[in-house]
Amino acid sequence: MSVSETLTAGLKLPAIAAPMFLVSGPELVINTCKAGVVGTFPALNQRTSEGFEAWLLEIEAALQAFEAQTGEKPAPYGVNLIVHHSNPRVKEDLAICVKHRVPLVITSLGANREVVEAVHSYGGKVIHDVINLRHARKAAEAGVDGLIAVAAGAGGHAGTLSPFALVNEIREFFDGTLVLAGALSKGSDIAAAQLMGADLAYLGTRFINTRESRAGSEYQAMVNAAKAADIVYTPKISGVAANFLRESLARAGMLPENLDEKKHVDFGAELQAPEEGQKAWKDIWSAGQGVGSISDAPPVAELVARLRAEYCGAIEELESRSRCFRGGE
Ligand SMILES: Cc1cc2nc3c(=O)[nH]c(=O)nc-3n(C[C@H](O)[C@H](O)[C@H](O)COP(=O)(O)O)c2cc1C
Repeated sequence: MSVSETLTAGLKLPAIAAPMFLVSGPELVINTCKAGVVGTFPALNQRTSEGFEAWLLEIEAALQAFEAQTGEKPAPYGVNLIVHHSNPRVKEDLAICVKHRVPLVITSLGANREVVEAVHSYGGKVIHDVINLRHARKAAEAGVDGLIAVAAGAGGHAGTLSPFALVNEIREFFDGTLVLAGALSKGSDIAAAQLMGADLAYLGTRFINTRESRAGSEYQAMVNAAKAADIVYTPKISGVAANFLRESLARAGMLPENLDEKKHVDFGAELQAPEEGQKAWKDIWSAGQGVGSISDAPPVAELVARLRAEYCGAIEELESRSRCFRGGE
């Protein structure tokens, strides 16, 4: 177990609510942190860097007020930066993270020593998401504090490897914070992630269906109705292989079998004209294979309390079920 205090202070559950494009905003982050789980959002969820900074101010003010009123420390919050040449805002958004001393920066699509050093300069932590060993090694070399092993079945840009294989192989060379992602929707899944060797669990899809999420009611209803087999893994929508709800692809006439290969990734274009036509993520909805365990959209506080009860129950049950194999009575 190698999680720094920056990440564990105020945590009531070893979990991070993962950043989701167009889904996570200040309300979700604030209520997640208040409930004792790390709340995060992608900087690109605001159309401009000024808007991004306004959200940081809103989140900081709300969390400070919570601490002053309750005497309780909220969980830390985090920002996701897409470190990719097609994202024109990386530098400006990083400078804003440094100015506001954002406790956790989650980098995706590129691990970069410059970003790590900038965040370390004020004591912040950087974790980077990876789907394979090559990227994990590169990120470790760049000096990140943690890795997110994004296994098969995750929402967004998922991997294809079994979580067991990915975690074990990363653990052979990396002793920093290890976070596991991919179809984790229940408290028992969080306990299982720890048992497998991860320090923290990373839950995206489960948080699409919360009252505070920015996903609309149709999107949430589709998540409620879907099973793992309704998730389609394709690179043809955004240029990087990702998981999408089959029904939303069908409605948009964009089932992969009817599409040509998408050749490149362009976050600049997504940013500039998200409302133009059928855009990836806006009308074509992403979700992971964990949808099959989701059938409601409760307030975050209620969800976290439920996850916590399931987590504690699963550990107690394992204790009891494993006793006879451990030499007990
Ligand atoms: C709708 C949606 C949008 C996402 N957007 C982003 C994003 O902007 N940046 C990012 O790093 N990951 C993004 N992800 C991936 C999540 O951060 C996380 O890795 C994933 O949701 C975990 O798997 P799970 O959904 O099975 O829990 C997105 C996932 C979903 C479902």
